[in-house]
Amino acid sequence: QTLDSRTVEAVGKYIKDGRAKRIVVMTGAGISTSAGIPDFRSPGTGLYANLQRLKLPYAEAVFTLDYFRNNPLPFYILAQELYPGQFRPTITHAFINLLNEKGILLKLFTQNIDCLEREAGVPDDKIIEAHGSFANQSCIDCKGSFPKDLMLKAINEKSVPHCLHKSPSGEPCDGLVKPNIVFFGEQLPGAFFDNRDLPSTADLIIVMGTSLSVAPFSQLPSFAHDGTPRVLINSEAVGGLGSRTDDVLMLGDCDGQVRKLAEACGWLEELEAMWAM
Ligand code: OAD
Repeated sequence: QTLDSRTVEAVGKYIKDGRAKRIVVMTGAGISTSAGIPDFRSPGTGLYANLQRLKLPYAEAVFTLDYFRNNPLPFYILAQELYPGQFRPTITHAFINLLNEKGILLKLFTQNIDCLEREAGVPDDKIIEAHGSFANQSCIDCKGSFPKDLMLKAINEKSVPHCLHKSPSGEPCDGLVKPNIVFFGEQLPGAFFDNRDLPSTADLIIVMGTSLSVAPFSQLPSFAHDGTPRVLINSEAVGGLGSRTDDVLMLGDCDGQVRKLAEACGWLEELEAMWAM
């Protein structure tokens, strides 16, 4: 056993003793619910439970490529609500930034498209946006890029943008444009596959706010070596975490549990100050 016990105090001691120098953090929608962004699968409050108005055949269709191809409007109705810039990072996001400032964040793998980790200060080169982001957009047919300002206009107007590119013979492409967030039926970004072995080189894994129900992201914690402590901060146990000797389950609200972890590291005041800025 690597940790003295399977408690937050033992994790705090492990970090304070300088044994965690390469921390890999994995996040999902649960770290942003307290910022006001719904997660996907929580019964009642999750996005998938509240899409009746879009009249979808099934909830995940709104993020499914085949469905989008025939009916892109529901996505654009939702896109306006999800578009980054309207929300403030939580103390959980600030904690990831604190790990980076302490020089012990190896990588953050996020499934989120809200860009709140970045907004909290985590630098680009530390973030793997496994499910893409709203940062760029392209045509689903010719893959050509599309201007940002026209994308913003489409999102504001809840209208569907079409590709402006022409084929070599001068034919307009006119394909559907979508933000480069990963839909079901699409490959994850190359950066995910280039870095997916990093958990095996980590000395601490922290998984927060995810149901770990979407592969291949859900496999990341299993790449950690036996003996590498894995901490789960989530309202429910997920993904088989807890099955190893050095797994620590911190079940409850992310922000509250993160404060406990920061306290165990002796960083709570610093974290609160950083978040308040
Ligand atoms: P989910 O909605 O599947 O899971 C969120 C998890 O966070 C659940 O286990 C919740 O119980 C938990 N949770 C919510 N709020 C919390 C809080 N304040 N404190 C602690 N726990 C909390 O979201 P993801 O796991 O991120 O993909 O979903 C994964 C992917 O499925 C998303 O990236 C998205 C979706 O379909 C695509 O669209 C491609």
